[in-house]
Amino acid sequence: MTTTLVVQGLEKTYGSGDDAVRAVRNVSFETRPGEFVALVGPSGSGKTTLLAMVGGLLAPTGGRILVNDREVGGTSKRDLARYRREMIGFVFQANNLLPFLTAWENLLVPAILGSTDKKEAGARADRLLEELGLTKRRNALATQLSGGERQRVAIARALMNDPRLVLVDEPTASLDSARGRQVVESLIQEVRSRDVLGIMVTHDMAMAELADRVLEMHDGEIREHRAGKLADQVPK
Ligand SMILES: Nc1ncnc2c1ncn2[C@@H]1O[C@H](COP(=O)(O)OP(=O)(O)OP(=O)(O)O)[C@@H](O)[C@H]1O
Ligand SMILES: [Mg+2]
Repeated sequence: MTTTLVVQGLEKTYGSGDDAVRAVRNVSFETRPGEFVALVGPSGSGKTTLLAMVGGLLAPTGGRILVNDREVGGTSKRDLARYRREMIGFVFQANNLLPFLTAWENLLVPAILGSTDKKEAGARADRLLEELGLTKRRNALATQLSGGERQRVAIARALMNDPRLVLVDEPTASLDSARGRQVVESLIQEVRSRDVLGIMVTHDMAMAELADRVLEMHDGEIREHRAGKLADQVPK
């Protein structure tokens, strides 16, 4: 199933009165099916705020987000939690792996806590670790993994629930450029082979160029849209 994302006149203001910060201002964009979008821009330009709203982690102060024609956040807290759980895969800069668990166990945390079939989840974790080139590191503790390996485990974990939208915030910030590139290439490959949408925030233009499209934010606004290197490969 192809996922569509439409963002219309989105606004986020933190605080009020003299302290108000208008972090996201009248942002509108649409994604094409199976697209991988990079979101770039200076520190404080609103990238994380925008991503958090799309992911249902933060309520907008104005505008709308439609995923598959349904408004995100237009419903109850429970629906929002379900939206995050079923539709979204998150990967953050600090990958939040649990240090005292192995790579494989980190993938299984939601299944262990929830009602998912553990056997099936275990097999799925093995498949994802293999796809990301981590089979040999399966039983290593998170603390024993390199930075790039940890980020790839975080990507695998984000894919465990078969999300329709993968949201990634600065996945390569702690990595050198060769490892960073490997992580982003794995991510793009995973996103493409599943026909899900990917949005990745990055400071690194070399990484952004790997995407289908680059959106540039300044002072809460999207100022520029341009094609990335993979643009001609987007299914039309
Ligand atoms: N919880 C918050 N309360 C108040 N202001 C906030 C909050 N979170 C972010 N801001 C402000 O909103 C603006 C946008 O922040 P945001 O974190 O979205 O930027 P960013 O583009 O992700 O920056 P960076 O590249 O440094 O991660 C900034 O001015 C920031 O100080
Ligand atoms: Mg940020």
